[in-house]
Amino acid sequence: MKCVITRGALQRQLRRFRTRGESIGFVPTMGDLHVGHLSLIHRARRENDRVVVSIFVNPKQFGPNEDYRRYPRNLKRDARLCRRAKVDIIFTPAAAQIYPADFQTSVDVERFGKLLCGKDRPGHFKGVATVVAKLFHWVVPDRAYFGLKDYQQAVIIRQMARDLGFSVGLRFCPLVREGDGLAASSRNRYLSVEERKRALALYSALKRGRELIRRGTREAALVERKLRNYLSRFVDRIHYVTVVDPDSLENVRRIRGSVLIAVAVRVGKTRLIDNLKVSVH
Ligand code: PAJ
Repeated sequence: MKCVITRGALQRQLRRFRTRGESIGFVPTMGDLHVGHLSLIHRARRENDRVVVSIFVNPKQFGPNEDYRRYPRNLKRDARLCRRAKVDIIFTPAAAQIYPADFQTSVDVERFGKLLCGKDRPGHFKGVATVVAKLFHWVVPDRAYFGLKDYQQAVIIRQMARDLGFSVGLRFCPLVREGDGLAASSRNRYLSVEERKRALALYSALKRGRELIRRGTREAALVERKLRNYLSRFVDRIHYVTVVDPDSLENVRRIRGSVLIAVAVRVGKTRLIDNLKVSVH
């Protein structure tokens, strides 16, 4: 496994693979790897000759009052996990590589970027789309892997790739939960034991929502109200609890076909998201 930090070194390695006709799978991350990331890496390993993982805590996707500075950085451990997972290249650029002085360009998936998390994280998805576009442009992967834990992010990247004509094959992978049901996330590290117990209400709420729908509730607003009431007993702030169309991310009124229940809350100082897709027949 090679650990590279510059675009030049990255592309030298990639050229070697390409001249041999080897396919390249790419997993972009912000590091502090956990079972969610590893599920993407394992799938990339199975489906490609070579696997590239990027680890870059992207300053442009954090708001001024968010956790950029204290976001967990754990490169030694990440490198160990990648080596064990048979990753070929870890790319860990410095911020100045990705954003040289006087960087001015951004990629904004305008409509999707304003919904759901976009409302209380203005500019977040612009930061995500910009860095992912730049990484795609540098790596030129055959396939790239994203998790459905960040469902809105996945929809935005799909739209961005379509709009800008990237020919990468996008692969979206199921949300991975920890043993207690909490969606795996680097931010789970911030939770105290007591907060973590309360955070389990996210998944319980989603399962309650699914149950309501399965038992015949078709009015989205009713599901949202019940889940909001439930969650408010455990969490410190509810950013949103909503039933949306899984493709357009727009609110639905009547539930039919497939819907996504999406939640974002704060427990203590930690913002957590989760989602569950529910299909009715
Ligand atoms: P990060 O939060 O490190 O996540 C990297 C990838 O892992 C994303 O595609 C994310 O959806 C996926 N992932 C995280 N937790 C997961 C879980 N519990 N189950 C399944 N997949 C999971 O998402 C980002 O970084 C950044 O926004 C990035 C795309 C790298 C751009 O900076």
